[in-house]
Amino acid sequence: MLVTSSEMLNKAREGGYAVGAFNVENMEMVQSAIEAAEELNAPILLQTTPSTVKYAGLDLYYSMVATQAAKAKVPVALHLDHGSSFALCAQALRAGYTSIMIDGSKLPLEENIALTRKVVEMCEPAGIPVEGEIGRVGGKEDDTECEEAGYTIPEEAVRFERETGLSSMAVGVGTAHGVYKTKPVLNTHLIQQLRGMLTVPMVLHGASGLSDEAIRECIHNGICKVNFATELRIAYTKGVREVLTDSSVFDPKAFGRVGRERVREAVKYRILTCGCDGKA
Ligand code: 13P
Ligand code: ZN
Repeated sequence: MLVTSSEMLNKAREGGYAVGAFNVENMEMVQSAIEAAEELNAPILLQTTPSTVKYAGLDLYYSMVATQAAKAKVPVALHLDHGSSFALCAQALRAGYTSIMIDGSKLPLEENIALTRKVVEMCEPAGIPVEGEIGRVGGKEDDTECEEAGYTIPEEAVRFERETGLSSMAVGVGTAHGVYKTKPVLNTHLIQQLRGMLTVPMVLHGASGLSDEAIRECIHNGICKVNFATELRIAYTKGVREVLTDSSVFDPKAFGRVGRERVREAVKYRILTCGCDGKA
């Protein structure tokens, strides 16, 4: 069933585990992510970035996810990842997305607060939760590029929560988007400190390439949603590439099926890392 992300994330916070949030780009990824969640009886978030939205449109992603979610027994949320403007958040809300992120992390604190609050005020009457971000995730995701990870300042995070009324908070704790070129320095003590000061669930971005151990340590200290994108893109493309080495293949179903299979395995693996199997 298609649900908002509120209950699944609040339950994760109480239960000391995290829900996996998986970036999907196409039909095969939507199908396989939901199949993986069904197999492991896990709640799941499927999410699309602005560039993904540009690729196929909010309506198409909504239709695919809503259709698959309606057939699933597990709770599925459709989340706008790194919402880049108030307008895009409004469009996602209207398209039926059940969870929305506004990423104002590059803005000065005052402006990030004002923008995030505006999105919360728009989404609140519809009962749609909003994720905001404070501090910086390094690396590159869409147009969001950052040389270095910026660690969240606890006092600012408290103010951000109080003055925006957001439902979940992405925090900067040393992770980066994309493939890690050097080993990230994760500040799990900061996560623990933030856990004690905030009431909303915290989100870890840039989880591709992190060891199970590192992710579990973050969850143990208070992370409730973990975002995976690059790993799934790699899994899908590797599978497709393998099939396409045979130049006699011309049916898109032949390689789509293999990409789908690889993503399903990758999502299952990360659901187990997050410890949300059996929590549907
Ligand atoms: P990765 O691409 O590093 O997995 O990051 C995912 C993410 O944070 C999506 O918002
Ligand atoms: Zn991210």
